[in-house]
Amino acid sequence: MRIGILTGGGDCPGLNAVIRAAVRAADVDHGGEVIGFHDGWRGVLEDRWEPLDVARCRGILPRGGTILGTSRDQPYQRPDGAEQVGAAVARHGLDAIVAIGGEGTMGVTKDLHRDGIPVVGVPKTIDNDIALTEMTFGFQTAVQICTDAIDRLHTTAESHDRVLVVEVMGRHVGHIAVWAGLAGGATITLVPEVPFDIAEVSERIVARHHHGKWATIIVVAEGARPEPGTLEVRKADVDSYGHEVLGGIGHLVAAEVQDRTGIDARTTVLGHVQRGGSPVAFDRVLGTRFGIASVDAVAARAFGTMVALQQNHIVRVPVEDAIGHLKQVDADLLRDRALFHPPHPDRGGHG
Ligand code: F6P
Repeated sequence: MRIGILTGGGDCPGLNAVIRAAVRAADVDHGGEVIGFHDGWRGVLEDRWEPLDVARCRGILPRGGTILGTSRDQPYQRPDGAEQVGAAVARHGLDAIVAIGGEGTMGVTKDLHRDGIPVVGVPKTIDNDIALTEMTFGFQTAVQICTDAIDRLHTTAESHDRVLVVEVMGRHVGHIAVWAGLAGGATITLVPEVPFDIAEVSERIVARHHHGKWATIIVVAEGARPEPGTLEVRKADVDSYGHEVLGGIGHLVAAEVQDRTGIDARTTVLGHVQRGGSPVAFDRVLGTRFGIASVDAVAARAFGTMVALQQNHIVRVPVEDAIGHLKQVDADLLRDRALFHPPHPDRGGHG
């Protein structure tokens, strides 16, 4: 067996665990070999790669990022991209390419499979938004980083009786915000799934502060948006891949809350800190399980599949079923989040 492996899209803690486990499984279970393409699909197209063996993978388990490098380049951005990937598979005598990545990389995996190229997908994203897998590695690490930050912000918020807004990642979904908000005891958590009304948010904060000196922590996902017509949001810039470069909603929320309540407000944007550093144990284990399962999938010639976590088992799903619809935060968790929002003076209850 001979496998090519690559990491595409934004990096994520736990990528090295996948690579290490795939190398080990190919070697031990199949007497096979793995080569690693550099910088995602770009390395496949430019034929930049290195042989990977157990020795090369020593010490990488606790390391963040990816030893292979990554990029958001995709073969279908080039007219002959798919043929070039096919040529790389033939040139290196590969049984398949294992592509570790997010929604974009899984979309490429689906298209390459359609075009007859043997590929297996491994889902990756701190956002935890890929459908058909209950969790992606990297997510728990990001949640822990955000929770640690919120814990620290509580004490300074209390000292100054301030509103502190924490902006966390989550382009389209609020998994990180909800988990970190619940774990960190946030006062209010704003997510893309539920457009917010800044007037109502402010009124809830005022009501809470009337009951004494209570610092407020607002967790806001970078993709959270106000209810239409309630607050103008600056249009996001777009990067060279057409993705919106988000960030800034936290500053807007803090400025509005301060204006409307008269309470001092500040913002902390956690940004790429959430993607850096060593993965927590859960992400190392999930990455390891995904890495082993991806090699098993190649051995079974289950091309066009993506490995996934379902009910604590690693399964294979058709990659085409996993893309095109992002996994949003469950209604149950959204309700649990709202239970901790301060009651509104007129509307009562929690929103
Ligand atoms: O998709 C993962 C993610 O970290 C998002 O949460 C975030 O919006 C985006 O990537 C940032 O991308 P970049 O690293 O290209 O700025």
